Amino acid sequence: MLDFSLDSLFPEHGRHEFLENYLGHTPVIQHDHPYLKELSQLPYLSSIDELFQSWPDQVNAYQKGTADEVNSLEVSSSEAQKLYKDQGAGLFFDDPNRFIPELNPYLEQLRTELGLAPFTYSRSLIYLIAAGKGTHAHFDQNINFIFQIKGTKKWWLAPNETVANPLERYTIGHEASPELSSYAERPFPQEFPTEKAIEIELRPGSLLFLPKGVWHKTFAESGSLSLNFTFTPPSWADLLLSLLRSRLIQSPHWRETAHLLGDSEYGPHSEAHFQQLIQELSTDVQSWKADEILEFILKQD
Ligand SMILES: [Fe+2]
Repeated sequence: MLDFSLDSLFPEHGRHEFLENYLGHTPVIQHDHPYLKELSQLPYLSSIDELFQSWPDQVNAYQKGTADEVNSLEVSSSEAQKLYKDQGAGLFFDDPNRFIPELNPYLEQLRTELGLAPFTYSRSLIYLIAAGKGTHAHFDQNINFIFQIKGTKKWWLAPNETVANPLERYTIGHEASPELSSYAERPFPQEFPTEKAIEIELRPGSLLFLPKGVWHKTFAESGSLSLNFTFTPPSWADLLLSLLRSRLIQSPHWRETAHLLGDSEYGPHSEAHFQQLIQELSTDVQSWKADEILEFILKQD
């Protein structure tokens, strides 16, 4: 079993330097990774042909137009192979950790290393991008670790000055959801912000840490196979909300039906009652302790 501690994953940087970059939303790259050999020997990753032959599930294929998951379709493995070979369609294979149990402890160790809450959505993904193709400019809401297994792929990475800490992904040229738009600081760009971007090349054995929200697009110089470990962790808001409901429903008053809203006779009474509950909550909240809440959350691990 491989050691997925931050010290072992990023030996040239070490845990402390990695975390400084992590906290600053700065990508980190480790080339010539010693884990390439072991990871390449995992099921599905030894060759592109093996991936098509043995993958037991549907595959997501980029359709014509925007090369991105926002414009993808689930197809059978044989259909995916045809699309890849005939049209160079980009493919991604969801959650290989369902079929490669060895990957689960790696995900778990990395989640713990980052101190992410137990109800983080942790998963792996395999990406296959044909030579001369790439992925359209976008950002993701998740934290991403990308192991380049085969082929070389160029990446362009740029800081996100449109929206800090996005809770959902966004692809340039597509519509942002009303919620994402509600907290964007400026309009979404029409094009990738090339002037602020850095260009890197991943080759077999390169490991890239891609922070959430960073703009990126890619171009495969040769058939590119990569294994991703991604984490969609709860925000502070999610953390609190997960507790808030369980706390509020201990009271019969909070469990009461929210009714007669806007009613001319009883509406004012409903509103006053709700205001009273909010008042009581605001007093209660002042005694809440972050350490006690976090202890409760970590106990669920
Ligand atoms: Fe992405």
